Amino acid sequence: MRIAVPAETQGNETRVAATPDTVKRLIGLGAEVAVQRGAGLSSGITDADYEAAGAKLAGSASETVANADIVLAVRRPPASSLAGAAKGVAVISIMDPYGAEAALGELAAAGASSFAMELMPRITRAQVMDVLSSQANLAGYRAVIDGASEYGRALPMMMTAAGTVPAARIFIMGVGVAGLQAIATARRMGAVVTATDVRPATKEQVESLGAKFLAVEDEEFQQAQTAGGYAKEMSKEYQAKQAALTASHIAKQDIVITTALIPGRPAPKLITADMVKSMRPGSVIIDLAVERGGNCELAKPGEIAVTENGVKIVGHLNVPGRLAATSSSLYAKNLLAFVETLVDKEKKALAINWDDELVKATLLTRDGAIVHPNFQPKS
Ligand code: NAI
Repeated sequence: MRIAVPAETQGNETRVAATPDTVKRLIGLGAEVAVQRGAGLSSGITDADYEAAGAKLAGSASETVANADIVLAVRRPPASSLAGAAKGVAVISIMDPYGAEAALGELAAAGASSFAMELMPRITRAQVMDVLSSQANLAGYRAVIDGASEYGRALPMMMTAAGTVPAARIFIMGVGVAGLQAIATARRMGAVVTATDVRPATKEQVESLGAKFLAVEDEEFQQAQTAGGYAKEMSKEYQAKQAALTASHIAKQDIVITTALIPGRPAPKLITADMVKSMRPGSVIIDLAVERGGNCELAKPGEIAVTENGVKIVGHLNVPGRLAATSSSLYAKNLLAFVETLVDKEKKALAINWDDELVKATLLTRDGAIVHPNFQPKS
């Protein structure tokens, strides 16, 4: 069994799909592991580190994937890079499948069995494989660090001989995995933290972290959580009430961090241009939802915009990648845990149980076709 870790091909991707630790453990499953030279450098992992863990180094992508039974990646590798892999090669990565039917068609045509890690069901058995959580948690942490570094003042209250520095006020909008970590981090750094969400379950979570909860708690709010634990898209009426409540609050904040997402929908717009105008010069908005359309009307993907009234709106892409070494180590463990379920440990061979619910939920292509019901090509 041969496992390949090619270097990432997308320009802004700094993470890597295996670490020396997971390489050792993959070898322990009976695999030969090939890593492309330089694949780990932006995560602080050298070729020598991989070699010491037992990996074989390969000079090019095609040499890396030659005869591979499994290809591990952070982002969906282009189908063209799989030439020379074993028939039916299992390609496991964050696939970003929405609207990518053409690319999925190419993976299918290349004969790959491709798995989307972000579709892993959030059940107890698969918690260790939950890439959305492992990466969102770090994004939430990094958002506070980025906010603190863009903000020209200190976060904690300081009483000094030269005067008292007030604590910064930080508002977190959207309290899923990223938002909870952002609250915890902002509290540790000494800020005064408030947070909002549309799911009632978040109120207690926010308060248990020592932050204050702020939300329109009407009938619709009571019903806002789906059976899967996600938020519904709220009605226009609710959105108007929410905007009225948060508008005066946002005007008093130093840093606002937005993380609100709705599965399969564009991110809800929570901060209007007028709200930005009401903020004080020097305040900062960090929009973690920018890759899905943004929570702030004025956020621009990949840019730090400064408004006429001196508010910085930060739209960093790939925020987990801004913490590449940590993100890679958790992501690589998520992958390892999934690979362990795909391998027959006695025969030391790939043995995919196509009826396993984890396989069914994540499998996008197999035997030349797109097999996932949600991503069928439109006829
Ligand atoms: P997400 O990334 O889909 O959304 C982030 C947050 O934005 C959510 O809390 C959502 O309620 C909120 N949001 C959506 N629309 C909003 C609006 N208009 N205004 C304010 N906030 C809005 O969520 P994430 O982080 O993936 O978590 C979703 C759920 O999954 C949570 O209930 C979490 O506890 C649960 N979860 C369960 C796991 C498990 O059982 N293994 C693992 C991780 C999360």
